Amino acid sequence: MTDFEELYALERLCFGNSWTSQTLRNELENPLSVAVYEYAEGKLAAFVIGRVVVDEAELFQIGTHPDFRGRGLAKSLLKRFHEKTRDKGAAVCFLEVRSRNAAALSLYEKSGYERISVRKDYYPDDDAVIMRKTL
Ligand SMILES: CC(C)(COP(=O)(O)OP(=O)(O)OC[C@H]1O[C@@H](n2cnc3c(N)ncnc32)[C@H](O)[C@@H]1OP(=O)(O)O)[C@@H](O)C(=O)NCCC(=O)NCCS
Repeated sequence: MTDFEELYALERLCFGNSWTSQTLRNELENPLSVAVYEYAEGKLAAFVIGRVVVDEAELFQIGTHPDFRGRGLAKSLLKRFHEKTRDKGAAVCFLEVRSRNAAALSLYEKSGYERISVRKDYYPDDDAVIMRKTL
């Protein structure tokens, strides 16, 4: 477990107001939760949070601190997340991402995800792309 306040500060930096601190705390305390962290220069630099339910994993959030982007941290974090979820019994991982989030779409495609559908107007200002990777 990483320092909660440091994690929440990074979550807000990456995602704005999407989760309250209680949402994040509840998610981490959920027994199905899987979280993986990367550190750089003594600081929390990147995180990923998801869940495994029976044989399916779902990735909720992945974020890298702006000071540490473009160094491969998210790619290596995703790899560790996939290993951990596979160890917990997941055979497949799903996620949803904004259709205009080019950096995330590229990261996911390079990490072996394929686009399986689009949810039109899922966000107030964007569509959601649903992606899947066989683990
Ligand atoms: C998306 C995000 C997690 C990438 O983190 P990162 O640590 O910089 O990513 P990496 O350095 O591991 O890059 C891995 C791949 O992602 C893609 N990528 C990363 N940044 C990119 C950018 N600015 N533009 C286009 N592609 C990008 C590339 O395909 C890259 O592979 P490459 O190095 O071979 O080009 C980061 O930009 C972020 O935190 N964004 C805000 C939160 C977010 O949108 N999260 C995803 C939705 S849940």
